[in-house]
Amino acid sequence: MVSGGKRRRVFLLVIQKILLLIVLCLTSRCCKAQHKHDQHCNTSSCGNIRDIRYPFRLEGDPQHCGLRDYQLACNNNRAILQLKSPPDAGYDYKFNYSYYVEAITYDNFSIRLVDPGLDKDNCSSLSLHSLPYNSFSRNSIFTRRFFPSFIGSYNNYDVVFISCQNPVNRSGYVDTGFCDKRNTTSTSNTTSPSPLQNHNYFVLGEMDFSELEDSCNIGSSVLASIDVVSRLLTGDNISFSDLYDGLAYGFELRWYRANCGHCVARGGWCYYIENNIYCDYCVELSFAFDTRIFHC
Ligand SMILES: *[C@@H]1O[C@H](CO)[C@@H](O)[C@H](O)[C@H]1NC(C)=O
Ligand SMILES: *[C@@H]1O[C@H](CO)[C@@H](O)[C@H](O)[C@H]1NC(C)=O
Ligand SMILES: *[C@@H]1O[C@H](CO)[C@@H](O)[C@H](O)[C@H]1NC(C)=O
Ligand SMILES: *[C@@H]1O[C@H](CO)[C@@H](O)[C@H](O)[C@H]1NC(C)=O
Ligand SMILES: *[C@@H]1O[C@H](CO)[C@@H](O)[C@H](O)[C@H]1NC(C)=O
Ligand SMILES: *[C@@H]1O[C@H](CO)[C@@H](O)[C@H](O)[C@H]1NC(C)=O
Ligand SMILES: *[C@@H]1O[C@H](CO)[C@@H](O)[C@H](O)[C@H]1NC(C)=O
Ligand SMILES: *[C@@H]1O[C@H](CO)[C@@H](O)[C@H](O)[C@H]1NC(C)=O
Repeated sequence: MVSGGKRRRVFLLVIQKILLLIVLCLTSRCCKAQHKHDQHCNTSSCGNIRDIRYPFRLEGDPQHCGLRDYQLACNNNRAILQLKSPPDAGYDYKFNYSYYVEAITYDNFSIRLVDPGLDKDNCSSLSLHSLPYNSFSRNSIFTRRFFPSFIGSYNNYDVVFISCQNPVNRSGYVDTGFCDKRNTTSTSNTTSPSPLQNHNYFVLGEMDFSELEDSCNIGSSVLASIDVVSRLLTGDNISFSDLYDGLAYGFELRWYRANCGHCVARGGWCYYIENNIYCDYCVELSFAFDTRIFHC
């Protein structure tokens, strides 16, 4: 049993610790000042993306303009971003894909990307970049820990494609329907079910892989905007073509980490809330007031 006096002393100690923490852990708000490297750079443009500027750069722009991690290519009037996993990502997280850039918004540090595989009028030749499950989706630990340049916004949802030997009737599984047929040419003669004759479904949202039916395998995982997914989920009759149209809208990533360099260099925790970037860092007492100022 703890005596009343001891309990009070512990309580005061805790309060003291908390107060100390409040004094020492500072939060700075980041201004949205133009980067000094960018002062003498024209904005570049490619197709619909007319406003390519810091931290973005277009291939061929002067060396000092924008950052290399945010370089876009321009092919046939479409801006293209190469999205690569960082070198230290685990094997399961390795990828290197090109995406079309649909929009860059500088107010909220976002970029909207579309899989070039969707650039078709129908899904007969559908071939999408498969991203590691939960790599850029909501609450992604992956991007927070590993990804230096782009981070999943809270607006992304994973759409997982699964392939099953036997038909599955389960809520959340949506038959990909006519897209099944895309790879079935000249298999109609075989008696045993070929992998190409599987039943294919997509599953929206969070998925518990341990509950997967025995006859099913997980295929690719792609990202959709949460607006699209919510709209699909509230409809009582989701079809693959709805999803297809939804995926064609693309998904958004945030690029605010381009402005986090100073914060991270000081061991700070850099984050985004409502169009502002914040930096939290704890300092030793003697420096508490010197380091309060945070420059972008
Ligand atoms: C910006 O554009 C103007 C007009 O096209 C050109 O004269 C100038 O050299 C450009 N500046 C840079 C840094 O590219
Ligand atoms: C990524 O892919 C592009 C072409 O698609 C290639 O040029 C580039 O070297 C690749 N990068 C890495 C790190 O593999
Ligand atoms: C950023 O702003 C644009 C334009 O208002 C909007 O379309 C987009 O959804 C926003 N993105 C995020 C991630 O907030
Ligand atoms: C779908 O697109 C492919 C080529 O991408 C084309 O050969 C095929 O005829 C199209 N099918 C329909 C039904 O439009
Ligand atoms: C799927 O299951 C539901 C109820 O569990 C049933 O109402 C529905 O008819 C089934 N659909 C098919 C295609 O078997
Ligand atoms: C069928 O799918 C495989 C892999 O998914 C692909 O390599 C092949 O090109 C496809 N064939 C056709 C005719 O689309
Ligand atoms: C099915 O098999 C028979 C004989 O093996 C062959 O003559 C026929 O062309 C095949 N049909 C298709 C659609 O491949
Ligand atoms: C769902 O949509 C399909 C085709 O779009 C239609 O044939 C079917 O009757 C619809 N089912 C319900 C329950 O609305």
